[in-house]
Amino acid sequence: MFNKLIRKNDKRINIHLDERKENAQKEQLPSHIAIIMDGNGRWAKKRSLPRIAGHHEGMKTVKKITRFANEVGIDTLTLYAFSTENWKRPKMEVDFLMRLPEEFLGTYLPDLIEQNVQVRMMGNHEMLPEHTKRAIYKAMDETAKNDGLILNFAMNYGSRDEIVQAVKRIAQEIQQDKISVDDITEELMTKHLMTKDLSEPDLLIRTSGEVRLSNFMLWQLAYTEFWFTDTLWPDFDEACLLEAIEIYQKRNRRYGGLKGEEVN
Ligand code: FPP
Repeated sequence: MFNKLIRKNDKRINIHLDERKENAQKEQLPSHIAIIMDGNGRWAKKRSLPRIAGHHEGMKTVKKITRFANEVGIDTLTLYAFSTENWKRPKMEVDFLMRLPEEFLGTYLPDLIEQNVQVRMMGNHEMLPEHTKRAIYKAMDETAKNDGLILNFAMNYGSRDEIVQAVKRIAQEIQQDKISVDDITEELMTKHLMTKDLSEPDLLIRTSGEVRLSNFMLWQLAYTEFWFTDTLWPDFDEACLLEAIEIYQKRNRRYGGLKGEEVN
């Protein structure tokens, strides 16, 4: 009896990734997954490597997870690559992080094009170095017509900054008599955010054991399911993403209401 239980458990763990993927695809998938990619520094420290080695390894995970998310059938993947607060890091680390999009897109853009991925970016573009912008704009331009996965990089992104900018634009529209105060609704706010062309995330993942939002998509995450894992971002792999999706699929999303059987 005990052996039978162990065998059953082993079998469950050993179900091949493809089979788990196919099972997940039979159920409702999260359309938009947002990820706070954390733990690059600790990954490097554990190996006595400089922090930037962790970011470089993290870049490879971006490649792996983008391909897999696209294969699974996720519509949008938003990745928190650089926050408005990350400028406080040592200049050498900031410079390295600003070079990563160039390296990533320089190496993988042909693959992304082949995979029908559309590259986008949200954040305050102005402060980014020219070389960073050039690489991202080129990728956005060359993938604009693709209709597979949307790979949305949050670069120099901060949610409070995004909300402040949205409020300023709405105030200007009122000043210019284009709209009135009564026109301010949740929909209007949503249309003034950097995500105006995207659905709200269904699933938020944060790696590395930290359990906070760090100024990420505060408006958009209002009804999102959260999943936190201790895995460091460079170690995050296809099986981890599937685990997050499987857990998401077991959740009961109520959006503040009740499900049919709970009404009575
Ligand atoms: C947080 O880990 C991670 C970042 C601030 C950078 C994330 C960037 C990548 C994963 C690469 C992005 C790739 C492209 C293509 C843009 P941390 O440094 O805070 O880790 P720690 O908490 O362990 O120190």
